[in-house]
Amino acid sequence: MEKLISGRSHLPFVPESFILPPESRPGQTKFPPCDSIPVIDLGGQQLGFDRAQLVKQIIQASQEFGFFQLTNHGVSEKLMHDVLDVANEFFGLPAKDKESLYSEDPKQTCRVHTSINYDREKVHYWRDNLRHPCHPLEEHMPFWPEKPPHYREVIGSYSAGVRKLSLWILDLIGEGLGLESGYFRDELSQVQFISVNHYPPCPDPSLTLGLPKHCDPNLITLVLQGKVQGLQVLKDGQWLAVEPLPNAFVVNIGYMLQIMSNGKLSSAEHRVMTNKEVARTTVSSFLYPSNTCRVGPLKTLLCDCIRPLYRDFVFKDFLSTYADDTPVGVPPLERYKIQY
Ligand code: OGA
Ligand code: NI
Repeated sequence: MEKLISGRSHLPFVPESFILPPESRPGQTKFPPCDSIPVIDLGGQQLGFDRAQLVKQIIQASQEFGFFQLTNHGVSEKLMHDVLDVANEFFGLPAKDKESLYSEDPKQTCRVHTSINYDREKVHYWRDNLRHPCHPLEEHMPFWPEKPPHYREVIGSYSAGVRKLSLWILDLIGEGLGLESGYFRDELSQVQFISVNHYPPCPDPSLTLGLPKHCDPNLITLVLQGKVQGLQVLKDGQWLAVEPLPNAFVVNIGYMLQIMSNGKLSSAEHRVMTNKEVARTTVSSFLYPSNTCRVGPLKTLLCDCIRPLYRDFVFKDFLSTYADDTPVGVPPLERYKIQY
């Protein structure tokens, strides 16, 4: 349990086991917030808005950046605020309250852990995490934390709201790819996880990362990042800092959408910087295919002149190779690429 960073009293220096090898250190820690990552305003919906234009914006952002932000998305400001409060309160609980949920076993449904794979990795990352499934709600909620007292109620409303929004974005993406309506709504998006990341202040952010460079293995991720900067996206070899916009969601295209769209959409590598002054807490919602779902480039996007870039697979097999490849720096899509 003493493994949780939030459980250690203020560390005056970065412990050896968290110091990255020189080539992976972020070094320079001042990255100005980047204003080129697209911000898509969904507020026009009520006013006879131009749906085709919105589809175009989303597809373009997903192609060029694999990331965009959403404003005026319909999830209430109060709820977003309450979610960040309850997430912060959770990591502020006394150690014994978090202890009962601590597990190194990724198969444990609701669990608290730290870094990525603490017992197997060479270097640790500066984050604590609480993660659990949340769809369908009734099935999973009884396993969620009982403290803080509002956790289940707040995260319950939030995960349902964010699921609805994610499915709507997937509908728009489907439309942009020319798919039949509701294409992603079945087993492709059956599984939803909420992941609460907590990055305590770090004595020397130039030596560590909260999360290493990675792409998410799912379809689509919505991140609520509060006011503190830390998330960065790799674009054309440059790290861009995602600006924390009030009440916005950061949307991130996962590997599954890159594969299904046969590379038309891209899943961008991203990482999390730590900072010296304040703790940063984020709440992400991940939509995943069910374990037995077959995934591959969509047949409707292929023809004689457009060949599939990836081979088909069963999703749970992908998750397993992703978990093997990512920590050792092997690009997880390599083994699925078709060589012509
Ligand atoms: C993740 C992730 C970003 C953040 O959990 O996969 O990229 O800012 N999180 O916490
Ligand atoms: Ni991520």
